[in-house]
Formats: sequence, C-alpha cells, structure tokens
Amino acid sequence: MSDIKDIVLFSGISDESSSRFATAVRWRNYGADELIIDIGDESTDVLFVVSGAVRVIHRAETGKDVILGELGPGSYVGEMAAIDGMARSANVTTLQNSRIATMPAASFMDLLMREPEVCRAVLRLLVDRIRSLTRRISEHAYLTAKQRLFAELLRLSKPRPNHEGQRSVSPPPTHQVLAERIGSRREVVSRELSALEKEGLLEKTRGALVLVNPGELNSRISSGGLRVDLG
Ligand code: CMP
Repeated sequence: MSDIKDIVLFSGISDESSSRFATAVRWRNYGADELIIDIGDESTDVLFVVSGAVRVIHRAETGKDVILGELGPGSYVGEMAAIDGMARSANVTTLQNSRIATMPAASFMDLLMREPEVCRAVLRLLVDRIRSLTRRISEHAYLTAKQRLFAELLRLSKPRPNHEGQRSVSPPPTHQVLAERIGSRREVVSRELSALEKEGLLEKTRGALVLVNPGELNSRISSGGLRVDLG
C-alpha cells in the first residue's frame, strides 16, 4: 500500500492533512522512456517521483532539445501548470522504471495553503530553479560552448575515490546528452572531449569520464569570468 507520506514533499504533513488528501493521490508505475508530461499540454496535475528518475526537456519547434534537468526520487514536476494554470512548459520523460504519484492541481494548492512547511519547500525549489537558470544564462553570455562543456563536466563530477585531486563523471553521459545540457551540438562535444583526451586532461574508463586535472578546467572557464564551486 502506498501512503501520501511516501511522497517526500509531504512526509511532514499533519495527520489531518494526510487523511484529507490521501484519496487525491493516484499511484502509477511507468517503464523507461515514457512521456509523462507533454510540452504545451493543458493538464495541470503535479507528478511526484517516488522511485526512478525523470528528465525535463525543452523541445523547440525546430526539433532542438535542451535538457533542463534530471530528477530522482523525492522530486516533483508539473507544479508550474498547477500554480498558474498555463500550458506545460517542458516535456518530462522517465529515464528508467519509475513509480509516480499524481495529485490534481486544486488539491496541491489547497494542501500548500494548509501546510506552511510544504509551501516553503516549493518556494525554495522555485528559487533554486531561478538561480540555476541565472547561472545558465550567464554561461551562455560569457562562455564559449567549449567552456560550458568544461563547466558542465565539473558540475556533474564527484571526487574520484583513491585518486587524490581527480574527479569523475559516472555513469558517463552520451555526447548527445552533454550537448543538450549545454545548448550545443554533439559534434562540438565529441571534438572537445577528444582534444581534452589528447591533452591528458580527460580519461575514459569503462564506467566513467575521469577529469584528471579539474583545477585546469576551472581555470580555463575563469577566463570567461566564471568558476564552478567544487565544494
Ligand atoms: P509544468 O510547466 O507544469 O510542466 C513541465 C514541468 O517541467 C514544469 O512544470 C516543471 O516541473 C518542470 N520544469 C520546467 N522548467 C524547468 C527547469 N528549468 N528546470 C527544472 N524543471 C523544469
């Protein structure tokens, strides 16, 4: 049996809200690569990723895709149309088998008004998104495609275990996915990754892209006035 409190955003709601809204939630399992929100659609439900993962993509009429985000368990999508009633702003597809809970917009808004902590969490998510879009706009204004690729690799990377100073991106994204994340073309990504490999700054292992000298990549971005904070 699924419980409304299995939805991370709602895990702290009162018992009263829990019983009031439990029947508004529908649960469904999806396979990989299923479209769960279609850009331009007039639906307004909010979708919660209980398990699995989804990708948010903006698809231009020219067919060009921009990846806006990849979200795992505990995340949710569809809150924008639920809040303003406008058409869906992006496509959302499952990346793997996923369990998704769905709540109608009216119940979502009602719950938000009754539960200040939930409301605060949604506001924080929206502010986070503005910050990340601001960063993206700055990167497009100040950095070349090559520098945006370095920035994206650094952001996706984690310290490589047992290799002091190195970082790795695992699993390695395809060149097409990297291109869609940075708003460039696959050929540009392939060319720049090969150049990095030749310079000894990048190594491809079976399960990862290894950034051999992340500091060097960061200093190449800083000529564009930006740096990626590696924590
Ligand atoms: P909605 O517009 O209802 O449907 C598409 C959803 O994609 C949207 O709500 C958000 O949940 C999500 N989305 C839209 N833009 C972004 C973005 N820039 N970053 C992350 N998620 C987004």
